[in-house]
Amino acid sequence: MDDYKPLEIAKGIYWVGVVDWNLRDFHGYETPKGGSYNSYLVIDEKIALIDTVKAPFAGEMIKRISQIIDPSKIDYIISNHVEMDHSSSISRVLELAPNAKVFASSKGQTGLSEYYKEEGFDNWDLNVVKTGDELSLGERTLMFIEATMLHWPDSMQTYVKEDKLLFSNDAFGQHIATSKRFDDEVDDVMEDAGIYYANILLPFGGQVLKYIEKLKGLEVHPEMIAPAHGIIWRDNVSKVMTQYLKWAHGETVPKVLVIYDTMWGSTEKMAMEIVEGARSAGVEVRLRHLRKNDWSMTMKELMDAPVVAIGSPTMNNGMFFTNAGFLTYLTGLHPKGKKYFLFGSYGWGGGAVKGMEKMMESAKFELAMESMQIKFRPYEEDKKACREIGYKLAEIAKDNANS
Ligand SMILES: Cc1cc2nc3c(=O)[nH]c(=O)nc-3n(C[C@H](O)[C@H](O)[C@H](O)COP(=O)(O)O)c2cc1C
Ligand SMILES: [Fe+2]
Ligand SMILES: [Fe+2]
Repeated sequence: MDDYKPLEIAKGIYWVGVVDWNLRDFHGYETPKGGSYNSYLVIDEKIALIDTVKAPFAGEMIKRISQIIDPSKIDYIISNHVEMDHSSSISRVLELAPNAKVFASSKGQTGLSEYYKEEGFDNWDLNVVKTGDELSLGERTLMFIEATMLHWPDSMQTYVKEDKLLFSNDAFGQHIATSKRFDDEVDDVMEDAGIYYANILLPFGGQVLKYIEKLKGLEVHPEMIAPAHGIIWRDNVSKVMTQYLKWAHGETVPKVLVIYDTMWGSTEKMAMEIVEGARSAGVEVRLRHLRKNDWSMTMKELMDAPVVAIGSPTMNNGMFFTNAGFLTYLTGLHPKGKKYFLFGSYGWGGGAVKGMEKMMESAKFELAMESMQIKFRPYEEDKKACREIGYKLAEIAKDNANS
């Protein structure tokens, strides 16, 4: 039995990453399926390690590398991205291969120098590369592609020209823990790629479009995309690239998404009636209670919905705290071209709807129609009004869907 078996994904190119089965929270967003940090080893006359893993998993990555070569033989470490899930084991690898050269983008160099002072950054043999620069390994050539703001300023990718294999780092990733390594071996992978896109790349649609153009300009037509999270794309390469274009363009379908929280059920009743009204108009409807659902999935649901209704009860003169948190998250991710409707129940002075309106206004989000507030409990006529609003929102969703 081979312990910590690496997987050969192309001739002489190995996955030497780790699976984080118990990951449920990735810097704040829910990852119910776990995750992985993928690093890759390219064996040629020179040996290159593409990215590393989150520091607590360094030992596991090194065990996997050791199944192929003595880690001291690593010549090059390609650091595609400064973020700690990929860079925080570089210093461990350098302890074993002290003469290895590290390659990073210009902003990567700055970021690594700022993060890893205590890990001896000043002694690293750091080489800055830019888009189009090449590094020969012998039979193979690595080409570097700056992927600025996908999703950090330093983000970079590495292309193996001869194998048409793109190490895309965070782009094209998904957070899933699985013993499988390829897209044709797991279910729902596009869905998982969508959740990842909605939570990591949503603000950067413009950059995604430019990046895909840039690949064409560089004659980069990958046959395999090996991201730093999740499975490797080999069967659906063009499909995932087309899907990225659709997400970047903000493609929507006739759909109303209703998001809410509630203390005593009144805002929930309003939400249910809005759902009913929208459903009767024949569009797709989704309902998401903020404390009962993953916000990461809610963001995925929001991507293809042109209309979003958000409900909050008033608590202590303002909106409910989960609504405040969610709206902070949503306005930060800043999806484009949506229309919002705000509603909620209050007891005396109110404040939730006003608070939400302020946040929407400062984020320059467009409201579909006037907000609706109900004192304490919605009775039949209020419920009817909510159903009518739901119906109207569905009509707006039909008019605004762009696919
Ligand atoms: C802890 C707490 C604080 C509240 N603070 C306010 C308030 O400051 N102003 C107000 O108008 N209503 C306030 N309310 C009343 C609720 O907004 C009201 O009961 C509303 O109908 C709750 O909607 P829900 O059933 O969707 O939770 C408060 C209720 C609770 C439980
Ligand atoms: Fe990242
Ligand atoms: Fe990452």
